[in-house]
Amino acid sequence: METKIVKIVENNDEEIKKAAEFIKKGQVVAFPTETVYGLGANGLNAQAAAKIYEAKGRPSDNPLILHIDSIKMLSQITTAVPHIALEIIAAFCPGPITVIVPKRKNVPDRITGGLSTVGVRMPDNDIARKLIKLAGVPIAAPSANLSGKPSPTTANAVYEDLKGRIPLILDGGLSTFGVESTIVDCTENIPIILRPGAVTKEMLEEIFTEVRIDPALVGKDTVPKAPGMKYRHYAPKAPLILFKGNAADMLGAFTRELAKYKKMHKKVGVIASHEIVSALGHQYAYDYGQQNNLLEIAANLYNGLRFFDDKNIDLILAEGTIEDGIGLAIMNRLKKASGQTIVSV
Ligand code: TXA
Ligand code: MG
Repeated sequence: METKIVKIVENNDEEIKKAAEFIKKGQVVAFPTETVYGLGANGLNAQAAAKIYEAKGRPSDNPLILHIDSIKMLSQITTAVPHIALEIIAAFCPGPITVIVPKRKNVPDRITGGLSTVGVRMPDNDIARKLIKLAGVPIAAPSANLSGKPSPTTANAVYEDLKGRIPLILDGGLSTFGVESTIVDCTENIPIILRPGAVTKEMLEEIFTEVRIDPALVGKDTVPKAPGMKYRHYAPKAPLILFKGNAADMLGAFTRELAKYKKMHKKVGVIASHEIVSALGHQYAYDYGQQNNLLEIAANLYNGLRFFDDKNIDLILAEGTIEDGIGLAIMNRLKKASGQTIVSV
């Protein structure tokens, strides 16, 4: 199958219309969102959803989230919207957040992995919302990467993973946030964060008196409530070691470790802040942004994790961030990318 990349420029609605026709016909299409690129199909059609799993090589027990263009579309997915979900939608949607709500019968089990709940998200991206509106149905869309790889934040990253597997990629440029949406379970009395993202715990605490985090996210030995969070994820080709600790101690730690691996004749890549990369002057380095600019680091993170894949590197050393605000999402992804190989500095 030939994979076409179509650049969407302002008011280029004809191309979005063509993509919507693909969705209506039960095909899959990759499209941009403000978090990461999605691989979309008709969210109420089990056969169309099956094509998403096939293209990604995704385990079938990992449910898909449904993307809507307006509150009106919510009625196609759920009848009982919990008040927590309504408050989140009022405060943050469209935006980088997914609410877990009870599903209507017409949402296929193929989408939800047999769960009685479903994830819903209204993306803050004009191309995505036009596509959904023109398709007229909720669009099921996981991140548009091969299962296990970092999510794509550019059309080229989608192409690298899915060329020959899907017919069309809409190119909307670089994703704004660069980490996937915050997922909040809204089916209990207290909102529970199942996956941290750009809508932070602190932001949710401005509207709810209590916000919980799924214990599986903070190292507790329990099964995560978001089935996808249990898989190895975001992994570059080379093994990755994550350095966690004070920014002031990072330079010493990187200098020491690089000297150690040099003696072992290992080709080591570094993914770190502008401060560390410029101080090290190391040959194989990816600068993910200023230490104090977590939004910039989030936006560059997945490009960094893909950066060394074609460079024949033995090992990657990555600098961690603080775990406040969007830093919680950055560290969650880096920990997974490391397969929990974490060094405290
Ligand atoms: O930002 C995003 O959310 C992107 C863009 C494309 O919208 N999508 C995305 O989808 O990250 P995906 O499939 O890569 O991740 C969705 C996560 C998975 O970990 C899945 O297990 C979880 O959401 N999930 C989906 N439905 C769920 C449900 N009913 N209950 C709990 N977790 C659910
Ligand atoms: Mg994903």
